[in-house]
Amino acid sequence: MARGSILVVDDSSAVRENLSELLQAEGYDVDSCADGREALQILQDHIYDVVLTDLSMPEIDGMAVLTYLVQHFPETSCIIITGYGTIKTAVDAMRLGAFDYLCKPVETQEILLVIARALEHQRLWRENIRLKKQLREKFGFDNIIGTSEPMLKVFDLIRKVADTDSTVLITGESGTGKELVARAIHYHGQRQANPLIPVNCAAIPEDLLESELFGHEKGAFTHAIRTRIGRFEQAHGGTIFLDEIGDMSPNLQVKILRVLQDRQFERIGGNRTIKVDIRVIAATNQDLQQLVQAGKFREDLYYRLNVIPIELPPLRERRSDIPMLVTHFLQEFSRKKKKNVQRLTPAAMRCLCDYHWPGNVRELENLLERLVILADGEVVDLKDLPDHLQHRQAETLWWQAEIPAGGLPLQKLLSDLERQLIIKALDQAGWIKNQAAQLLQLNRTTLVEKIKKQKITRFSQGETMGKIQGKP
Ligand SMILES: Nc1ncnc2c1ncn2[C@@H]1O[C@H](COP(=O)(O)OP(=O)(O)OP(=O)(O)O)[C@@H](O)[C@H]1O
Ligand SMILES: [Mg+2]
Repeated sequence: MARGSILVVDDSSAVRENLSELLQAEGYDVDSCADGREALQILQDHIYDVVLTDLSMPEIDGMAVLTYLVQHFPETSCIIITGYGTIKTAVDAMRLGAFDYLCKPVETQEILLVIARALEHQRLWRENIRLKKQLREKFGFDNIIGTSEPMLKVFDLIRKVADTDSTVLITGESGTGKELVARAIHYHGQRQANPLIPVNCAAIPEDLLESELFGHEKGAFTHAIRTRIGRFEQAHGGTIFLDEIGDMSPNLQVKILRVLQDRQFERIGGNRTIKVDIRVIAATNQDLQQLVQAGKFREDLYYRLNVIPIELPPLRERRSDIPMLVTHFLQEFSRKKKKNVQRLTPAAMRCLCDYHWPGNVRELENLLERLVILADGEVVDLKDLPDHLQHRQAETLWWQAEIPAGGLPLQKLLSDLERQLIIKALDQAGWIKNQAAQLLQLNRTTLVEKIKKQKITRFSQGETMGKIQGKP
């Protein structure tokens, strides 16, 4: 296989022939032509890795060839060869997008080196495109699982805002997918080829955050031994993702507000104003409005950020997404851990659907990772679930219960629940009090007292409603 394809464009036949011979001997595929017009014609049907072109040629010159390549084949590297052209023209060519320039007479080693560099540059360029594509796929919607009504609304919003430059404020409990949504917005918008720079406002110590965000000049403070580019500058052309924004100090809130308003700032210790073209996405699991009322978050900053709010519902409010998420994570972790866990039994799945998931999708994801690692076969059963989940079924029923507008008699309900659970346990233990006490994690004396207090006898058996264990 050839090491790469090269087109040589030069009106001097001696140069053309010498170069072609040299490059072919080095294992490259080489075509050549005598002027810019012919080159443009060849480029209609052929793609080259490298075009080596003379600068001054009759009619269409090397600059025109370069311009065409930059516009139509940005992945092709154009190397300019200049005979009597001044450095100034070569510099112009570099500015236009030439990969490099060489002065005639061209030295063999030099040209081989420049071509090798150009090909390496292309390899990295392609690699970069491939990785960006992967990123896009990873953070595309395919990766955000959900078909529940609230999630469909979220997808719709992502689609609508991705192509705009509007500031987005994503709110939701911890683990609901705020970062995933921020990435989806960036990688579906016009800025996808530019960086997405995340800043976790809660994780960086307050005294470092300012330098982290705005950068500093060399000597700005004792340890500033060199100039540092801050996150806002790194995000130029792309998106800055301000995560955990509710945890930002009042002092920094003022400074952020200025960047959001004017898109400009100064590095610490610097007096040059730096302008940036950035999109801002912020996220928090705190109630910013409440923080504003408590005087902990600036109202003006809140309104700057809250241009397009996206609220991610907690998992317990979109339980219909749970089976799909479970399948997604089972497949993902089975692949990653080289296991073959196919499914959950209906009872285990029901248990997961009933649980209230205080840690939301992250908690579910972590649990499935653990289940896949520990699984012995293809199916996960109820008994494989952690104790706190199995035992929470009764609680879950209460968690889901709505409090009626007229209120409810808590003490009586708790006492009824206690009575029914004791009868259930006694029943299950064949009325052996020691065993029933164990089932309820009580000592025997306490159980006996409760039985007396609740006036429970064997005739109470028919009272339980079969509901407590979570059966529908
Ligand atoms: N809808 C979803 N589909 C698939 N995976 C999801 C979904 N939502 C969240 N996840 C996964 O759950 C984990 C937590 O998501 P993410 O980090 O985006 O949450 P967060 O809201 O930013 O949480 P925190 O407030 O704790 O930072 C990630 O591993 C993410 O991939
Ligand atoms: Mg997050």
